[in-house]
Amino acid sequence: MAEIETDVLIVGTGPAGSATAALLASAGVNCMAINRYRWLANSPRAHITNQRTMEVLRDLGPEVEAEAYLHASAQELMGENVFCESLAGEEIGRMQSWGTHPLSKAEHLLSSPTFMNDLPQTFMEPILFNTACKRGTQARMSTEYVSHEQDDAGVTTICRDRLSGREFEVRSRYLVGADGGRSMVAEHLGLPFEGQMGVGGSMNIVFRADLSRYVAHRPSVLYWVMQPGSDVGGIGMGLVRMVRPWNEWLIVWGYDINEPAPEVDEAMARQVARQLVGDPELEIELLSANTWTVNNMYATRMQKGRVFIAGDAAHRHPPSNGLGSNTSIQDGFNLAWKLAAVIKGQAGEALLDSYTAERAPVAKQIVTRANQSIGEFGPIFESLGMTGGVDTDAVQRNMDARCNDDEAAANQREAIRKAIAFKKYEFDAHGVEMNQRYRSGAILTDGQAEPAFDRDAELHYHPTTWPGARLPHVWVFDHETGAKVSTLDLCGRSRFTVLTGIGGEAWVAAAEALSAEMGIKIRTHLIGPRRAYVDHTGDWARVSEIADDGCLLVRPDHHVAWRAPAMTGDAEGDLRRALSAILAR
Ligand code: FDA
Repeated sequence: MAEIETDVLIVGTGPAGSATAALLASAGVNCMAINRYRWLANSPRAHITNQRTMEVLRDLGPEVEAEAYLHASAQELMGENVFCESLAGEEIGRMQSWGTHPLSKAEHLLSSPTFMNDLPQTFMEPILFNTACKRGTQARMSTEYVSHEQDDAGVTTICRDRLSGREFEVRSRYLVGADGGRSMVAEHLGLPFEGQMGVGGSMNIVFRADLSRYVAHRPSVLYWVMQPGSDVGGIGMGLVRMVRPWNEWLIVWGYDINEPAPEVDEAMARQVARQLVGDPELEIELLSANTWTVNNMYATRMQKGRVFIAGDAAHRHPPSNGLGSNTSIQDGFNLAWKLAAVIKGQAGEALLDSYTAERAPVAKQIVTRANQSIGEFGPIFESLGMTGGVDTDAVQRNMDARCNDDEAAANQREAIRKAIAFKKYEFDAHGVEMNQRYRSGAILTDGQAEPAFDRDAELHYHPTTWPGARLPHVWVFDHETGAKVSTLDLCGRSRFTVLTGIGGEAWVAAAEALSAEMGIKIRTHLIGPRRAYVDHTGDWARVSEIADDGCLLVRPDHHVAWRAPAMTGDAEGDLRRALSAILAR
């Protein structure tokens, strides 16, 4: 018999592993997480935290969401995305990014009760990990995954205690490989991947220096530096990224992937920092430096039997669009409730097949998007005549030429403006972040047609209650207290929810009867005048896409599982049919 038994063993305590553990523990599932290192992220890699991720943290509880905002740089400090010769040098242009443009800000405010923010990974991981451990996850650090074998009843995993070198077995019902871009779990499973690793070379240089004088008047998380060589490798351009305003920074600078990776020592780090900041006297306190490769690879299957992969283990891509840790946490939100339902005997094992069906298309989408964003810096370089050359005089001549009073210069200025505005597909792609619509056995559309996107689906969120889409957020009002409550807050927390209105009482009765019959907890809410929640603004009526006596069945991860546009002749029978199909019973 294995020395340790648990329901779910999670390999990795990065954003994917810690989120999955926190969500499983919150759902009352016995789980264990291991990390080969003695502690969590030691460098602030991921930082852009989007609204959908904040909705996951909100689902974990108001204290978890509040802690994230406490440590984050607020959205107001994120948005003046600058393109320049160097921080001290000439500014070439900028775009308001990450939902800070007034038009985009309105869309953000309308879409979610949460706010995008900048939360370095060194803060996000402890919040998720702490939540996981507090709620019951058994965590073992300095513990390495070695191998696993699965059979009909469970998975036996060999782990190695790195302090003693001793190997031991963990027996679990399920195993989640959240072990990052070099996932051994994915490799041992032999899961199919598409794409290529190592398509570009990059280095991170993390340092402290007070750069307020260059940036405080144009607050941003990203300052893009166009210098000869800045289109080689890397993520499209030289980057000075704010970690903490305005005295901690992370530089991303590329190197030619066909050459050996450079040794980034203190002297080189200082030289790159001076060059990008544009201050030859700059002194930095170097915190860390490392090289990494740009990847373009995604799994087309994220499960084999009782073993799953989540996060970078499944999607490997550059940080462009800031999607990595966000998508990793969202993988956990998709997987955790399904594992919980199966482990508690509320769902059949076939429910777990929906994980790949729902998340593998997202993996492909975000890997493709992030890599495409690197190439989309091209027109900015071209508009300044910087096409791979290192001729600084030619670059300076082109920079000067744009200031002339002639037609060529006017055309050049127009080209620069257009090229910079086009980068909204990287820096303000709200649709990429919010429009995930699932198609799988855990969604029942009953043949209702998917609504088309009436605006660019990468840029704009399109609210709909079409089964598979995330439940739209609007504010409704508590009838007793008058407090405003997001529709998302009425749902989630590891439970299914039925939303209906006046005339929909039969759905409530059906949900109560089926909760008892099927052994699942279904929450119910009636929205209407003098009911528990009141739609004072009419916003709910505008987005719900059902009649007052219709029904929305919402999954624990806020996605609509099924809907009835209006009351049917057999509410209980219809709801039973939907739940049985979705839960594979
Ligand atoms: P991650 O790699 O974080 O964690 C893997 C875990 O598995 C670690 O705990 C590790 O110790 C453990 N592990 C590995 N092998 C093991 C073994 N054999 N045994 C036991 N444990 C093992 N993303 C984003 O959303 N927004 C952003 O703004 C950015 N920005 C950004 C900038 C830069 C410069 C980089 C390099 C990356 C980003 N990212 C990002 C990407 C983000 O950092 C990345 O997507 C997430 O860390 C992925 O989280 P995971 O939990 O999947 O893997």
